[in-house]
Amino acid sequence: MHRPALVSAPRGIPQVVGPRLSVAPMMNVTDRHFRVLMRGITTRTWLYTEMLTTASLLQDRGPALLQVEPVEPPLVLQLGGDDPSALARCATMARRRAYAELNLNVGCPSASVRSGGFGAALMLRPARVADCVRAMSDAFGARVTVKHRLGVDGRESFQSLIDFVGAVAAAGAARFIVHARVARLSGLSPRQNRQVPPLRPDWVHALKGWFPHVPIEINGEIRSLAQAERYLHQLDGVMIGRAAREAPMLFADVDSRVSPERVEPPTRRQVVRRYRSWLSRELVAGTSPLLLLRPLQHLYSGCPGARRWRRALARIDRHSPGDTIVRQLDDAIDEVERLHATARSHRLGETVCVR
Ligand SMILES: Cc1cc2nc3c(=O)[nH]c(=O)nc-3n(C[C@H](O)[C@H](O)[C@H](O)COP(=O)(O)O)c2cc1C
Repeated sequence: MHRPALVSAPRGIPQVVGPRLSVAPMMNVTDRHFRVLMRGITTRTWLYTEMLTTASLLQDRGPALLQVEPVEPPLVLQLGGDDPSALARCATMARRRAYAELNLNVGCPSASVRSGGFGAALMLRPARVADCVRAMSDAFGARVTVKHRLGVDGRESFQSLIDFVGAVAAAGAARFIVHARVARLSGLSPRQNRQVPPLRPDWVHALKGWFPHVPIEINGEIRSLAQAERYLHQLDGVMIGRAAREAPMLFADVDSRVSPERVEPPTRRQVVRRYRSWLSRELVAGTSPLLLLRPLQHLYSGCPGARRWRRALARIDRHSPGDTIVRQLDDAIDEVERLHATARSHRLGETVCVR
């Protein structure tokens, strides 16, 4: 993997310069708990919030949604909306928080988002996206980026993709993250829209060829660091979504690969230990145990003991007092680590699960 340098960016936010790896924004996945868990695995991967709509942020409890934990940066806030002035107000709210960038969602095809006129539907309105980016940049005072599709129904040619990126880059968008397939606004669910339209990574390469000075990232079914590395030689970044949810330890080797110093990848036990203090604190604050345990579900994915781990987590009594929940979590990790160690000593699963 290319070895990017860490430099200090405006407002003291660490920035990885050069090609970057990130975990995609995912609703009901990349909440604060998941992000804190990820930070116990990797500090060099960029993280995104779930999409926050302008409507949700401009309510009374909006500012609370923008809270950033000190461990989270580099972190990007993803906004959903199509009204430049509402987006500017949200960008102003985000300005004093530790977000490195703002990102506009131009890729979500869900019916509710579509009926709001934003998400992937905005690919039909490049001039409006340009207005949104301008308004967000002016209010935020730092980089604004766009996550989008190759196209949507009725606007699917490579020429219209170039027109879209050209118009939005001219408005000051600092980076484009391209989910390398079109979105079908009618006839497919969001889930199908992540599977059915064929992936066209060649279009992302062609887009980069067309705009060599514009940072362009690829997203879509990237499932290993080796695959990511191949793209990082040619493009400006790789964004990984579902594989991060389904196997977060995929990212355990990132820091050691990009860091000039020697960094030992964390073990699963260390990751749980790091997350444990967050979990204890949040349980005291009254956060739902369900939400807090959710990010841990797939920690042993691909390893001996994965199913045992999920079952042990499911057995944790969500109604117990916080210290009992933490003790049950400790018991679960002990149980699975014993199994894991036995499997390792019998050299089972060593190709998929080295820690
Ligand atoms: C459960 C789930 C929720 C998602 N929520 C968002 C979101 O809030 N904003 C967004 O831009 N994309 C969202 N996406 C799309 C992902 O960011 C990503 O573009 C897509 O999953 C393709 O990448 P992958 O193949 O690596 O998963 C979501 C995807 C999933 C699976």
